[in-house]
Amino acid sequence: MARASPAFRMKTFAILNGPNLDRLGKREPHIYGSATLADLESQLRAEFGAVARLEFFQSNHEGELVDKISALAEAGVDGVVINGAALTHTSVALRDALAGSGLRAVEVHISNIYKREEFRHKSLTAPVCLAVITGLGLEGYFAALRFLLKSGA
Ligand code: DQA
Repeated sequence: MARASPAFRMKTFAILNGPNLDRLGKREPHIYGSATLADLESQLRAEFGAVARLEFFQSNHEGELVDKISALAEAGVDGVVINGAALTHTSVALRDALAGSGLRAVEVHISNIYKREEFRHKSLTAPVCLAVITGLGLEGYFAALRFLLKSGA
């Protein structure tokens, strides 16, 4: 029987969602769709659960997200998918947390932020992420995880 290589280690990724994304499915469905955050999480587990450990975290509070990023850095996770939601456009604290964490992060937005109001066009966090995926709907989270799985150590 084939044995798992001793070098094999299942990677761990965190999927972080910011303010109001707990209301996915109810909140402006014409923009964000009808799937809930729980739907997204179970779809991601179904797709990646066999090949990666996934940890989900959502908060409406900036400081809680900052604390979570710091904890993930200490834990040494392999990557982060972050939809900072409105904090993307405002939070120096979130940007500094990501920059200081050393974590490989991909920023995701469900909607295309560049097709929307001007205040959404600026992301404070994008420059400290490896990439930004915006406007692919929930598929953006899958694409981000696929990229993180294939790249990196
Ligand atoms: C969002 C876009 C942000 O501008 C907005 O504040 C959100 C969601 C998106 O996923 O499209 O809450 O990050």
